[in-house]
Amino acid sequence: MAAAAKARKRALAPYSKFQVGAALLTSGRKIITGANVESASYGLTCCAERVALFTALTSGARNFTAVAIVGRSLGGPMPCGACRQLLAEYAPRARVWVADSRALRTVSEYTVSDLLPAAFLEVPAQPADSD
Ligand code: THU
Repeated sequence: MAAAAKARKRALAPYSKFQVGAALLTSGRKIITGANVESASYGLTCCAERVALFTALTSGARNFTAVAIVGRSLGGPMPCGACRQLLAEYAPRARVWVADSRALRTVSEYTVSDLLPAAFLEVPAQPADSD
């Protein structure tokens, strides 16, 4: 939670002003962080969770045991649907810890499958001439 709160300070959120930090914990006790990055073309915005996850994955990290998410909102920011999908694919066993930046010790815990039951996890093979 502390690492996520620290990462949040590096958010680039000039449009929403909603700064979010995320921190992934690996089974080897490494912590990889990220913060949200917004764009003037709003739809290009990337959430803190995905920045952290893409950074972790492309630095070779695997086997995530937890992801902490911190933002200034009651109860903390719940991950969006896109982030839930990527967590289901790349961090399926991670505990998801969420907290308000003003009350970092009040943590809500979820599993990824609590947040995205019945996830779509792989593209089924298709015959070449399928309709
Ligand atoms: N945001 C995150 O980074 N993570 C969340 O869990 C919720 C939303 C960001 C995206 C955008 O920059 C801002 O919060 C407002 O939606």
